[in-house]
Amino acid sequence: MYGDPEVHELREAIAARHGVHLGHVVVGEGIDGLLGLLVRLTVGPGDAAVTSLGGYPTFNFHVAGFGGRLLTVPYRGDGSDPEALMGLAREAGARLVYLSNPDNPMGSVHGPEVIRRMVEAVPEGALLVLDEAYAELAGELVVIDPEDERTIRFRTFSKAQGLAGLRVGYGIGPKGLIAAFDRVRNHFGLGRVAQAGALGALGDGAWVPQVVERVVAAREEIGRIAAGVGLRTLPSSTNFVAVDCGRDGAFAKGVLEGLLRRGVFVRKPGVAPLDRCIRVTAGPEAAVAAFGEALPGALEEALAQGGGVPR
Ligand SMILES: Cc1ncc(COP(=O)(O)O)c(C=O)c1O
Repeated sequence: MYGDPEVHELREAIAARHGVHLGHVVVGEGIDGLLGLLVRLTVGPGDAAVTSLGGYPTFNFHVAGFGGRLLTVPYRGDGSDPEALMGLAREAGARLVYLSNPDNPMGSVHGPEVIRRMVEAVPEGALLVLDEAYAELAGELVVIDPEDERTIRFRTFSKAQGLAGLRVGYGIGPKGLIAAFDRVRNHFGLGRVAQAGALGALGDGAWVPQVVERVVAAREEIGRIAAGVGLRTLPSSTNFVAVDCGRDGAFAKGVLEGLLRRGVFVRKPGVAPLDRCIRVTAGPEAAVAAFGEALPGALEEALAQGGGVPR
């Protein structure tokens, strides 16, 4: 049988978890899928949408796919720049402003006060899209009135719950906007196994806290490994850590390739100056240990190849 097209039981459980009415919750095929539906609902050809330059890219793909005009704001330091994002949205008459909080790829997070100010600054006709994929791994996040017409927030079962392969995410927002998803969503998109799995995960209160504990330990271990070879790590509120390789993007790419040659796969931001970092998953102990073994050699090789430009 198909899964329940209304995803009723799971939506009810999510609504109860967040203390909101069922009508504030839409469930879909991951945050990535829901972002596509949101862009389809709100962005027409030529409409502006604003995001951070070098931020999580899926939003950008959807904006391009629906003919929108993507405008970007550089990071400020190693975090997204809320004031500049809102400033550009106001100037451009943007329909959507996207913010991943905590941030991918840098791992940084904005506290509740900053996000509250952002919501207050949402221009007329725009919507703040808060992507909270890493919410469970961060500290205190902002609580927003689900009826607030200025914002929609997204969560997922892909990260702390470890169910990325099931493809289940959800949005919480004002009832009118949430109801509009029914016009465009794939009504049988969420299979029975996905619905049952997510429901089971919500009912397993012990799982997420122990994941968080292990992720925190792994983040600290990555910090120790990096410090052992003279590198700095950036504070992380996610399940990965940005390791600052201390030189330019070409150098960090050299380190990444050296790791790959040693069988260790990490990723890196693509835009300067963030691209001086590599992004290392706060994974199981054995994986982090493998990174620790591979890093000194990879770093040495990158230095021997010319060393890049010191920052
Ligand atoms: C910021 C952010 N949003 C969304 C996703 C994808 O979430 P989902 O698996 O729910 O589509 C990711 C995955 O890396 C992410 O980093």
